[in-house]
Amino acid sequence: MNGHEDGAASMGEGAPPRLCVRGLAKHFTLHLRGGARLQVLQDTAFDVRAGECVALAGASGRGKSTLVKCLFGSYGSDAGSLHFESSAGPVDIATATPQRLLALRRRDIAYVSQFLRAVPRVPALDVVAQRLVDADPLPPSDDLDDATHARCMAAARDVARGLFARLNLPPALWDLPPATFSGGEQQRVNIARGFVQPARLLLLDEPTASLDAANRRVVIELIHEAKAQGAAVVGIFHDEEVRDAVADRRVELG
Ligand SMILES: Nc1ncnc2c1ncn2[C@@H]1O[C@H](COP(=O)(O)OP(=O)(O)OP(=O)(O)O)[C@@H](O)[C@H]1O
Ligand SMILES: [Mg+2]
Repeated sequence: MNGHEDGAASMGEGAPPRLCVRGLAKHFTLHLRGGARLQVLQDTAFDVRAGECVALAGASGRGKSTLVKCLFGSYGSDAGSLHFESSAGPVDIATATPQRLLALRRRDIAYVSQFLRAVPRVPALDVVAQRLVDADPLPPSDDLDDATHARCMAAARDVARGLFARLNLPPALWDLPPATFSGGEQQRVNIARGFVQPARLLLLDEPTASLDAANRRVVIELIHEAKAQGAAVVGIFHDEEVRDAVADRRVELG
């Protein structure tokens, strides 16, 4: 079985796991190399409990980011199950319909990738505020009337401002689209978007890679807060200081 675990017992011990990964397999077919087959994940298995952070470890190319993308539903898998206790009941992320996956992403699963993929021309504040409005158990924002939507967005922007201030993002940038921001500025918008809505499953792929020490500490605090609110966290942290500060266990890939 791949996915060797070590580390201390977590605060979530005794509760049923929020996420159970079993027998996960994933390969890529390299069409530019004559259809060569690259087996990236094979019989990967581990659990994550609410309030627990599992750090994915393993050398570069072992499939850490691939596994996170499978958990976000961006990549399908060849075999295995990704059993998740969602707010609407149990679901296998590996076989969920696209509609179900979209609903999970709106409410339950947050993903902070290393790079921000923002919609062009949307101001940074709205990139974050929109996530909060979309996650609201009211109808999705498309269905709200204009006045209600404007009120929801105004309240959500206040929350976003609070996060930007914590992450030391210069206020002059808040109303600008992030396309021209520096790597570290874009990453902080991405982090604010990932943390603005409490998630049942929080996926973090190198969330502090472009950040300075002060902002790394803010991210460590945010991860602690998310765990205290009951998030199950699966993270990739090359930064050992961050990993040691937040991870309860390590799962070794490869
Ligand atoms: N979409 C894709 N198509 C083909 N091959 C891919 C694709 N995505 C990833 N790979 C390959 O799968 C392997 C695992 O990649 P992945 O990005 O998951 O590694 P990683 O463990 O996150 O590495 P790193 O620590 O460098 O980020 C690599 O060999 C990569 O080239
Ligand atoms: Mg990676």
